[in-house]
Amino acid sequence: MTQKHSFDVIVVGGGGAGLMAALFASQTAKTAVLSKLHPVRSHTGAAQGGIGAALGNLEEDHWEWHAYDTVKGSDYLGDQDAIEFMCQEAIRAVYDLEHFGLPFSRTPDGRIAQRPFGGHTNNATGKPVRRSCYAADRTGHMILQTLYQQCVRRETIFFDEFYVLDLLLENGAVAGVVALELATGELHLFQAKAVIFATGGHGRMWEITSNAYAYTGDGVAVTLRRGIPAEDMEFFQFHPTGIYKLGILITEAVRGEGGVLINDKGERFMEHYAPHIKDLASRDVVSRALHLEMQAGRGIGGQRYVYLDVRPETVNHYAALDGRTRPDGSPYRVTAEEIQAKIPDIIDFCRTYLGVDPVKEPMPVQPTAHYAMGGIPTDINGRVVGDERGTVVPGLYAAGECACVSVHGANRLGTNSLVDLIVFGKAAGQDAARYAAGAGFQPLPADAEDFARQQLEHLRHGAGTERPAEIRREMQRLMFEQVGVFRTQEGLEQAVRQLQDLRARCRQVRVSDQGRAYNYELVNTWELGNLLDLALVTAESALARRESRGAHAREDFPRRDDENWLRHTLARLEGDRVTLSYKPVTITRYQPRERTY
Ligand code: FUM
Repeated sequence: MTQKHSFDVIVVGGGGAGLMAALFASQTAKTAVLSKLHPVRSHTGAAQGGIGAALGNLEEDHWEWHAYDTVKGSDYLGDQDAIEFMCQEAIRAVYDLEHFGLPFSRTPDGRIAQRPFGGHTNNATGKPVRRSCYAADRTGHMILQTLYQQCVRRETIFFDEFYVLDLLLENGAVAGVVALELATGELHLFQAKAVIFATGGHGRMWEITSNAYAYTGDGVAVTLRRGIPAEDMEFFQFHPTGIYKLGILITEAVRGEGGVLINDKGERFMEHYAPHIKDLASRDVVSRALHLEMQAGRGIGGQRYVYLDVRPETVNHYAALDGRTRPDGSPYRVTAEEIQAKIPDIIDFCRTYLGVDPVKEPMPVQPTAHYAMGGIPTDINGRVVGDERGTVVPGLYAAGECACVSVHGANRLGTNSLVDLIVFGKAAGQDAARYAAGAGFQPLPADAEDFARQQLEHLRHGAGTERPAEIRREMQRLMFEQVGVFRTQEGLEQAVRQLQDLRARCRQVRVSDQGRAYNYELVNTWELGNLLDLALVTAESALARRESRGAHAREDFPRRDDENWLRHTLARLEGDRVTLSYKPVTITRYQPRERTY
């Protein structure tokens, strides 16, 4: 017997965006959070270096500078009305977090500490500005803990380890979701007036990634199956500094604190690619530079990594060459103790996983798949927009990495993911509660859970012999090689062909574990199906976009082409067929210009 529940608002996902949405929705609406993990284990906890907001605590800054940097970082694909809203709201968002109890690092006089981050500048001088508000290198972790405690205080209802498999739409509006309870293997039906997806990204489709195992694109895949398009999926960010071979994130804050990237010749090579702000250029620029250095044989020992060096003697040497100063105008110098205090987790990760002590030795790093700029199309209230004409799907919302507002356009600036999930998580929560107050429940059809049940039964008892782990490995390798930092027509066509094969093979999968309780083989296989759907949409969207913009770098079309491609992609998936349409980018005050750093 399927258990049935009824809520005004259901939030799917317990990371930063989901918790923020739940916190605000639950003020006036009966709200529940469904999360496949315990909320404080969500991937927001992996965000390290900070949340950007023009507080101006250490030097002059303005939200308009933040907005311009974000537009430029997005390679002019971000919607500027949404970016302006986000950068203004960022300031209030940080103070909200402070008042919720988030233990930010502090300046000596007690204000929230701020550090430089890639692409964030003083717009008057073009020099890096201290805009990232941080809690050492555990900012995301602190956000999760703080918001979870606030939700508990407000008595938000949590269904932990409930995995949402399907979205129910009736009469064109939201009716609820179907979820699998991992502890029992039972299906549950949740009737809701509004559903907010906050399920995060899909970096697990690449071989080397900073993303958690749980980052399998569930929300985008579920909505795509129900006819909602996915926006700008070709834009996926590679963070330049993942631990070599493991992909674990080494925060950009390391470079914010003065660390530099060094090639096999001992050169600080970013001087050649971004002469003005060097190691603090935007991530797309830095990742491409690493790739080109390695391709030219200047990876360390000719291998596919370079060094990230934050040893005090190195930092002090380059800070002196750059003329870097402290806020009081004195020369910038650091000690090993200061480095240890600013990036304690990074130092621990490197000691644990590499046997490398970053205050004494440089860290081996390579680009790692990090962040999805694309996702479920929404407006600034988090409402899902179902087509190129801007038609809102009543009761359906998305926020955080699974959503595409679009504030990140073709390339996100570091720290803006945390801004995004706080600002738009809150907006979605508030709007969903408002909507629910004036809406009735849609009737649930008698066969509401049939799709989910049939698919699960097929995986459990089908006649196939394919092994999910093998298919996953092949997909990850293919995506890393052909849909990675650089792309070509030939490589993308190969990716599309092979992904179609892998999807066909995935239909012949049978899981060997027939148990019900915590059947992770079954869940992982479902997740693989989600990843394959999104991988196909990503490759097809990338194949169609014949230009280079932000994180989408085509070797065969190396230039940005505003005349033909200053537009958002909307991809739909029907069976094996991806169809693409486009919608315009919103420009307010920043006309597209050539980007230099
Ligand atoms: O480098 C980092 O700390 C990552 C931050 C981000 O992705 O915004």
